[in-house]
Amino acid sequence: MRSTAIPPPTAPLTDGVIRVRTRRADDIAAVAEASADPMTQRWLGDGPMDVIERRTSLARAEEALRSGRSAPLLIADAVTDAPLGVVNLQFRSDELATIAYSVFPVARGRGLAARAVALVCEWARGLDVHEVRLEIDPTNTASLRVAGKCAFDPLDEITDDGKAVFARRLARAVSRRSAP
Ligand SMILES: CC(C)(COP(=O)(O)OP(=O)(O)OC[C@H]1O[C@@H](n2cnc3c(N)ncnc32)[C@H](O)[C@@H]1OP(=O)(O)O)[C@@H](O)C(=O)NCCC(=O)NCCS
Repeated sequence: MRSTAIPPPTAPLTDGVIRVRTRRADDIAAVAEASADPMTQRWLGDGPMDVIERRTSLARAEEALRSGRSAPLLIADAVTDAPLGVVNLQFRSDELATIAYSVFPVARGRGLAARAVALVCEWARGLDVHEVRLEIDPTNTASLRVAGKCAFDPLDEITDDGKAVFARRLARAVSRRSAP
């Protein structure tokens, strides 16, 4: 948990292929549909969103930001803005956060998760996060590939539910103070 509220990105984070942005009401149908994907359920441990979860989805995302717990963001196409996946920066402390992600089934295999992780890492760096981690089931080959592509290093650590932990240190954000 962060000690203060998480300021959402003021503008979408983008690399020209995807944009990572806060979620909107018109994203929820796609997020809910993807929540029924067996791979997402298997690896993220979430069930399909029910009617109440759909209805409260945006309010819960806002509360997560306000409380300093996490930043549930959306991965969208940089050109069309169509939803392609979700990514969540989860704060363990002010300086340590984990990233969870899921790319919608139709958009997999295009390297989008690695792009989203890179954009979120850069944003986290600006929030003074010093280290980001991924927690991945050792049999989740696709996600292990993402960790490798994003230059995360394995730690000698296993979570209580048996996940391998990967870490990436973030360089300190450059001070904006002007030179004397
Ligand atoms: C893990 C996941 C986010 C990867 O996203 P992605 O944008 O498809 O990632 P990439 O395109 O870099 O592909 C990663 C690997 O997925 C596999 N892959 C490739 N095409 C695929 C497809 N169409 N469908 C499924 N997996 C595919 C390959 O092993 C690939 O590795 P490679 O690029 O070295 O061949 C995505 O598979 C997913 O959403 N899975 C379910 C949720 C999940 O596991 N989240 C992570 C929890 S730790």
